This record gives sequence, C-alpha cells and structure tokens, in this order.
Amino acid sequence: MALLTGGKPTRGKPKMSKQTLQQYAVMGNPVEHSLSPKIHATFAQQTGEQLQYQATLVANDKFAEAVTQFFADGGKGLNVTVPFKEQAFALAQVRDQRASAAKAVNTLWLDADGRINGSNTDGLGLLKDLTQNHQLELTRKNILVLGAGGAVRGVLKELLGQQPTQLIISNRTAEKAQTLAAEFQHLGPITAHAFAEIPSLDFDLVVNGTSASLHGKVPAISGDLLKGAFCYDMMYGSNAKIFLDWALQNGASAVTDGLGMLVEQAAEAFNIWRDVRPNTTVIIDQLR
Ligand code: ATR
Repeated sequence: MALLTGGKPTRGKPKMSKQTLQQYAVMGNPVEHSLSPKIHATFAQQTGEQLQYQATLVANDKFAEAVTQFFADGGKGLNVTVPFKEQAFALAQVRDQRASAAKAVNTLWLDADGRINGSNTDGLGLLKDLTQNHQLELTRKNILVLGAGGAVRGVLKELLGQQPTQLIISNRTAEKAQTLAAEFQHLGPITAHAFAEIPSLDFDLVVNGTSASLHGKVPAISGDLLKGAFCYDMMYGSNAKIFLDWALQNGASAVTDGLGMLVEQAAEAFNIWRDVRPNTTVIIDQLR
C-alpha cells in the first residue's frame, strides 16, 4: 500500500509535490551510469507507489556520513553499489541471513526502532533470473563459478540452496577460492580449484563473476569447460560481451549477461522497502 509521508494510508491517486515524496537512492562511486533510478522509477509507476529515487555520487571516504545524513533527512531506503557494499555491511545495525553470508550489503532501510537494517539481494536476483526468467533447473546440476571477489561471495548461498550436485569455484588467485569454499561448505557441496585444475565435468551452468572483461580479458580456463553449458556473466551489456562471445565460440548451449540479475535484485530491494513486488519482465525487455 502506498503511504503518504506522515504515515497516512492513501486512497485513490494522491497528488503529491516532490517534497512529500518518499526518498530512495543508490549510493556508489562511480554511479552516473547506474540503471537503478530508471528501474525503480519504472517499478514505482507500475505499482502506483509514490516515491523518488536518485543516484548519489559519494566520495570514497564519506560513505558512513552520507548514509547517516540520508536517513536523518527522512530518506527511506538505499541501494549500495561499488565500492561501498562492505562498508554498508559494517554500518548495518541489523543484518539478515543473506547479508551475513555475503558479508556485504546492497540494500539499507530503517526499521520501526530507527535502526539501520541491511540485506543483500544480489544472490536472490541471480537466482530469480536463472530459474524464473531463463527457466533453468539447478538442483542436481554441475555449476562452475569463476571469481572469488565480492560479486561471487554475494551469490554462493543462493546457488548452494538449490542443491546442485557440485559447485566448483575457481579463481585466478586460487587461495581466495579455497577460502570461500571453506566458508560456504556447510551450505552444500562446494570445492575450489585453480584455473588450470578445474575437473572436466559436463557443467550445466558456468557463471563468470570475475571482472576480467573490464580488462578486455576472459578468465584463463580451458574453453572446453564451457561446451554445452549455459554461460552467464554477472556483468551486463558491453562489459559481458567478451566472455559471452568466447563462450559461444566454445560451444555454450546458451549465453546471457547479468541485466536480468540487476533488475531482479532491484525488485527484491523494492519489495523490502514497499512490500510490493513489481513485474520484472517488462522492464528487462524495455532495457534490452
Ligand atoms: P567484485 O566485487 O566485482 O567481485 P573484486 O572483489 O575486486 O570485485 O574481485 C574481482 C574478481 O575478478 C576476482 O576474483 C579477481 O581475481 P583475483 O582474486 O585473482 O584478483 C577476478 N579478476 C580480475 N581480473 C581478472 C583477470 N584478468 N582474469 C581472471 N580473473 C580476474
């Protein structure tokens, strides 16, 4: 239900000035190319929620200050992007299980007691994109995840929750993959291997969670591992192209970028803040 500032339930379509609209934002650095304002504006329009959402560039050493000020000014909810997700985790006074597993937070809001709450909707975003938008079944499947940075940490809980036969995590710096596998092994069958030592299973799903594409590279793994696999890059648009092209050249059964994940993680955040679930298919199609 839409609420006017001040908490009175609305009936019909209220006329509101900009000042009275509830405020939401994404904080990051850089943030100017973020699609989040457009996505959330579309969600708001679609669901009839009255809110304003903007992108806020925050100096690298001013994140905590900016968050505190945002909520002190009456702001309702924040998304957090690079490079602040770990700081947002540290700042959150209450963390849900997803935030705790990821040790990173991409969604903040205040609870009734005025405490800053944090969640991480990235994992659920990836999962919804894979299983609902792409209709993939992950249970009893072989999954290969490339990378061991924050992006990968944020999705392991949800992937393991699908009970794959095996989830292999591999990273250029192999020790980082080993550390993550040890940390998540209580949630399911996860093992770590160096790039050159990935077992040649028939992988059903390969997720690229590295930032290699940003350097014009693909992870240095054997292309044979991609044959017949559904290959997913957690980046979107031109940043995903190099990996997805390479995957197709190596016989991937299908490829997709992470645009769907971006929209789905936004929808999860919107649902936390407004208790209403937007239709994601429409906006994914629009953005494509
Ligand atoms: P993010 O939060 O996006 O995950 P990150 O924590 O800096 O960012 O992690 C980047 C990931 O991309 C790491 O797994 C990194 O591998 P290393 O741990 O060995 O640094 C990976 N990565 C970056 N450039 C890469 C490249 N050229 N080839 C393979 N992996 C790369």
